[in-house]
Formats: sequence, C-alpha cells, structure tokens
Amino acid sequence: MTATILVCDGITSNGIEPLVKLEGVELIFGKLDEISNPQDIHGIMVRSATKITEDVLEKFSGLKIIARAGVGVDNIDINAATKKGVLVVNAPEGNTISTAEHTWAMMMSLVRKIPQANQSVKQGEWNRKKYTGQELYQKTLGIIGMGRIGSELAKRAKSFSMNVLVFDPYFPAEKQKELSVTTVDLDTLIQHSDIITVHTPLTKDTRKLLNFDNLKFAKKGAFILNCARGGIIDEEALLHYLNNEHLSGCALDVFEQEPPVSRSLVEHPNVIVTPHIAASTVQAQINVAYMASDEIKSYLLNKPLKHA
Ligand code: MLT
Repeated sequence: MTATILVCDGITSNGIEPLVKLEGVELIFGKLDEISNPQDIHGIMVRSATKITEDVLEKFSGLKIIARAGVGVDNIDINAATKKGVLVVNAPEGNTISTAEHTWAMMMSLVRKIPQANQSVKQGEWNRKKYTGQELYQKTLGIIGMGRIGSELAKRAKSFSMNVLVFDPYFPAEKQKELSVTTVDLDTLIQHSDIITVHTPLTKDTRKLLNFDNLKFAKKGAFILNCARGGIIDEEALLHYLNNEHLSGCALDVFEQEPPVSRSLVEHPNVIVTPHIAASTVQAQINVAYMASDEIKSYLLNKPLKHA
C-alpha cells in the first residue's frame, strides 16, 4: 500500500503518529494551492480554515478520504464528496473538554467584564464601579445542544449552583436526571435563561436559530454565548438587541464570516471576542490530530472506521 496524504491548517505533527509510523505513507504539509500534482493526493487532513469545495474535489481527482481534525464538517462539501465517493471522517471527541472550558472562561469573563476591566487598567484607569459584574450562582443557564460539549457545560454549571435548562430534540430523557437539567422547548429556554449558550453544529436547521424574532423574548439583561459555529445566531439581531440594551452582553469565539466582517459587533463595548480558539489547546490539538490520522490509517488498512 502506498498513499500520499496532505496535512493542512498547521495540524500538529505531534498528533499524527499513526500515519508517521505507517509504511508506504508519504505526508505533505501545506496548502491546497501549493500542491503541483493534486490528482496524486489520496487523503487530506484539515481543521476549519481549508474549505473543501466541489472545485477542490474536482482538482484532487484521486482523493479517497478527507479527515477533519475537529468536530464541525461545515467546511467540507459533504454532498459533493459523497457523489465522488470520497469518505469524510471527523474527530468529534478530541476537543470536547477544551471547548467546554473555553466557553466557561468566556462566560465568567463576560459576566464579570474581565476583558474590559483588564483593558481599562492597562490604559491607566482605575474604575471599580464601571466593572461591577454578575454572579453565576443560582442563575439559569440555557444550553442549546446537549451533545458532548453541552453536557460538559451542564456539569460545570451544576458545580456553580446554576439552574440548567436545555433544548435538544435528541437529548435522551435518562440523561436529564443524570445531569440534573430540565429539558424545555426553544422558546421557553430563551424566555427563562439568564445566560444562553449554543452548542449545535451549523446545519440548515440551526442557521439563525437565535434571531430577531425569538431573541426579543430573551430576559432583559440576558447574556449570549457562541463558541460553536458562526451563523447559529443572527449577528445583526445580536447587534440590534445589544444596541437597544435588551441584552447585557455576548461572548463570541466564532463568526458568520471568519475573520469577522461586522466590526460594529466585534467592537461593541459589551461584546467579548476570541478568534475561534475554543479548541486550540495543546491537548485538544494532539487529540484531534491523532484521532483524524488514526481514521485515515484504518481506512488505508481496510479496517472499520469510527466516525465516517
Ligand atoms: C471544531 O469544529 O472542532 C472546532 O471548531 C475547532 C476547529 O475548527 O478546529
């Protein structure tokens, strides 16, 4: 067996041990447009920056497998890949903890205005009143999407004595009891949560799941977080409800377009932002790279795949 695998998006070489050790595999590190003979590439590993479009699939005509070192596969045209018989695999477990921890850090930073206070002290100010925050204790956290990351957040919220409402049509009833959370419909979650955080993939059903129509029913002063995928929350609606002070603030790690184009949202004083780094820890990057490369290895050795 011989195969050439293109590793994109700076995926850590520490993590791709399963492929490094596999005889007959040649690894190329680079970008799609740097490859002179795209038809000779059998597998591609990506994070989220590289977009695998129909055109790319056309050029990389010898492609057999695309492995996403991470969860979301929205940067890959799955339909076009399927039509061409190219397998798409991901690594859904590798960055759960990092993403949940980052969301938690964003939540605490948001309600305590830590980034704004930090900036102010560095600019030579000393304004204690302006940076009065809110406690999480006994507040209601609304989690939309109770997969791996949503469930990890629920555990952290319980340890901070928060009430947890969840909305997820696929969340098993027995898990509710185990995590001491209450399942509600989306409107009820929006109306009763002090803080709302989304943890769904971006699909046609979740695009603009939070929007002008339903955010108007959010509690006055609610906080909103998106560390999942840009586009799940309508950015114009967010800006509107921040500007009219219906929402107290929001924390965003992801944007409809990355880097973000809506500067008014990014620069809003009650918005805190990070550049899509929820999964960017040393540990998570090794985990996802390992899992994605292990899937390619299984494919090359004709073994069963875990996340096809
Ligand atoms: C993911 O989908 O795994 C995260 O958004 C992190 C990434 O894009 O690599």
